[in-house]
Amino acid sequence: MSAALIDGVAQGEALRERVRDAVRGLSALGTTPGLAVVLVGDDPASRVYVRNKSARTVEAGMRSFDHRLPDDVSEAELLDVIRMLNADEAVDGILVQLPLPPQIDAAKVLLAIDPAKDVDGFHPVNAGRLATGQPALVPCTPLGCVILAKSVRPSLSGLEAVVVGRSNIVGKPVAQLLLAESCTVTVAHSRTRNLPEVCRRADLLVAAIGRPEMIPGDWIKPGAIVIDVGINRVPSPAGGEGRTRLVGDVNFAEAREVAGAITPVPGGVGPMTIACLLRNTVQAACARRGLPLAQALA
Ligand code: GUN
Repeated sequence: MSAALIDGVAQGEALRERVRDAVRGLSALGTTPGLAVVLVGDDPASRVYVRNKSARTVEAGMRSFDHRLPDDVSEAELLDVIRMLNADEAVDGILVQLPLPPQIDAAKVLLAIDPAKDVDGFHPVNAGRLATGQPALVPCTPLGCVILAKSVRPSLSGLEAVVVGRSNIVGKPVAQLLLAESCTVTVAHSRTRNLPEVCRRADLLVAAIGRPEMIPGDWIKPGAIVIDVGINRVPSPAGGEGRTRLVGDVNFAEAREVAGAITPVPGGVGPMTIACLLRNTVQAACARRGLPLAQALA
């Protein structure tokens, strides 16, 4: 049996369309949401992300504010920029692109962002709200994972979910979101004993380890939903010297023969992250103005 493909490109476009509608409604009330992105240094991958984010923000009808700082910027200067954005009424969302250079304490910078503008959901206040079931701004990639899983199975209640990876950005928040969906959640990681057996229990497997094709087909329960968060660039066997291709954390060719539904890489979780960022910016804009969030984005 070949698994159903979960199309993150189409789902991302659909979510961005709903965001655009909500933004039109807000703009008609005279308030256009704004997203500020702070990029420190010159990392090529980060530059591509940031360029995409800005373009999508404008496409959705929102205001985009880009702040580019040199690689050798001091922590104090970066904190000044954050304080300025916290105070700026036109800014509803603030995103500081990670990773940051070594002279800067990323935890300190994330803590400086106003939690009401923390559209990445990385501030401990939002992490705590998510963990305690209170309204929160939720990290974008985990939110995208849950939306994709629910696109093939609207109720995840009672499922055995296994999350492989325990990062603050993906593994921990996706586990919290799945718990809130009434899954029985296991968080596995590099020290987990019998990882293949643990994975084989999963009705819903989320792979967020960052190791190319680490999960083979025979770790997957027949019929499981597989959400692959990994985006790993590896040498391409076809195409010759210097050619590369993107693969996930799951061996896709093997997994699709076993799973019930699976996200491809590329074209799965990736396109959902920016769509969820735009959604979060609308959520922040509505909350800051005391307006309800459009039902289509709830
Ligand atoms: N770097 C890679 N992914 C992300 C993300 O989702 N948010 C931020 N701020 N930086 C990142």
